[in-house]
Amino acid sequence: MSEPRWRADFPLLAKRDDVVYLDNAATTQKPAVVLDALRRYYETTNANVHRGAHRLSDEATQAFETARETLARRINAQSSKEVIWTRGTTEAINLVAAVYAPLVLGEDDQVLITEMEHHSNIVPWQNACRRTGAVLKAVRVLPSGELDLDDFDAKLDERTRIVALSHVSNALGTVNDLETLIAKAKGSGAAVVVDGAQAVAHFDVDVRELGCDFYAFSGHKMYGPTGIGVLYGREELLDNMPPWQSGGEMIERVRIEATTYAPLPFKFEAGTPDISGVVALASAVDYLDGLDAAAVQAHESELLARATSALKQVEGLRVVGTAPEKGPVLSFLLDGAHPHDVGTLLDAQGIAVRTGHHCAMPLMDRLGIPGTVRASFSLYNSGDDVDKLSRALHEVRGML
Ligand code: ALA
Repeated sequence: MSEPRWRADFPLLAKRDDVVYLDNAATTQKPAVVLDALRRYYETTNANVHRGAHRLSDEATQAFETARETLARRINAQSSKEVIWTRGTTEAINLVAAVYAPLVLGEDDQVLITEMEHHSNIVPWQNACRRTGAVLKAVRVLPSGELDLDDFDAKLDERTRIVALSHVSNALGTVNDLETLIAKAKGSGAAVVVDGAQAVAHFDVDVRELGCDFYAFSGHKMYGPTGIGVLYGREELLDNMPPWQSGGEMIERVRIEATTYAPLPFKFEAGTPDISGVVALASAVDYLDGLDAAAVQAHESELLARATSALKQVEGLRVVGTAPEKGPVLSFLLDGAHPHDVGTLLDAQGIAVRTGHHCAMPLMDRLGIPGTVRASFSLYNSGDDVDKLSRALHEVRGML
């Protein structure tokens, strides 16, 4: 396996050759074009958007709205009005749970999530259910890390108003069969909210083909900056939702007595947005658009396959999450060792992985484990990175 040609695009990887970065599910590194876009924005265009009567503000506004078009195109939204800027996946899901959920949930209605969700796709629904009297149910996860589809069928009923689930599990890498699950949910009259945080860097996401109602994702997991993300929502649903946060920019007319609101998408974007983050996120999307997506996917699959077979040679190592369809995430446990201890020993050898419950405590409870060690791969990782992880784990095994 040769070094991927994309590796040279990422300055940190050259500057920090003391680190083998295998924590990409937590956040990805940034290509030079994204860093350049941030700098160029502040050096040449910086002004507030949608406000000024001057050319800099016009240029900033144009860059900001062109970025919205770029993101809409990337996910095949029908209109850029369906792209709402948020701080990330968490804020996007919170928006839906705070504003959409009360419109459709009543006493004894149901929100159906799954046991593999990240806490950001659990806690907002707990709160929405508490406020509305609805009931939260979770689809069981099988020991392989796949959803129990019989349990999904059993729990989806005519009281289910919202189905919220991840596209790809952050903890195990399981890719859910969204086409089937969304078709069933829609057939039963539920709205579908997808946590796409772990999918957008690895697959082409087409929200119209998926048929979901909302799709949430973060820029920083797809080579963009931290602090910026997207809520995609179907225009008809967003249009009927009241605003969430209020203040400048989201209004049409304010009187002391009452306010009328701006049209989409501005109704959901109170305050000065993360303009530079938006511009840089669009450049991350341009970067992704310029890659051979099939080659990237093949490379990431090869990394996962190579790592899976190498790590199975480590004595006492158990892979957690064996679904046939997986994103480039490899969770594992070493017999008799706490994941944190393994992570610390790997770090001592320059290997960066995440350890613990991965913000998915109910999943760990279902699997009967305290957590895992998680290596997650990206397009810039090489076969050499995998070999270093494998060698380091043999060493760790010896130390323990
Ligand atoms: N949600 C991110 C992860 O899985 C932070 O690591």
